[in-house]
Amino acid sequence: MFKKLFVLGLVSLSIAGCAMMQKSSSANASVSYTEHIEPIMRAKCTPCHYPDKGKVDMLDTYTAVRKHINDILYRIQLAPTDFDYMPYNQKKPAVTEAEIALFQQWKAEGFAE
Ligand code: HEC
Repeated sequence: MFKKLFVLGLVSLSIAGCAMMQKSSSANASVSYTEHIEPIMRAKCTPCHYPDKGKVDMLDTYTAVRKHINDILYRIQLAPTDFDYMPYNQKKPAVTEAEIALFQQWKAEGFAE
């Protein structure tokens, strides 16, 4: 019993710690394009949506990702076999649940840059 409580305490402490660290790095919002969203886009949506190799709409800037947020959220949550699913044809690793949550939070908090 005590052990369980101790572990729980540790977990909630570290969650609180993370939340505080994120707060200090970007004014009010905890999720920002530069810190969280862009790295995901770069890892999972290149080269197709980035300049040089990209042949479809570019999603390499804050403005572009913000503008397409609903389409992005829709597509990354489809079944990987769905025709509209992204990353296209499963050519890149899927966007994880945790990353999807970041996109949703970014939107809910008003798209911090
Ligand atoms: C292997 C190449 C490839 C990768 C990787 C890829 N896409 Fe796409 N994407 C495409 C193609 C091709 C289309 C156009 C066909 C379609 O609309 O389904 C497209 C279309 C889209 C569209 C519709 C708007 C548009 O540009 O036409 C969105 C939004 C989108 N992708 C988001 C993403 C996101 C978010 C990721 C990363 C999680 C991603 N894509 C990864 C190839 C890719």
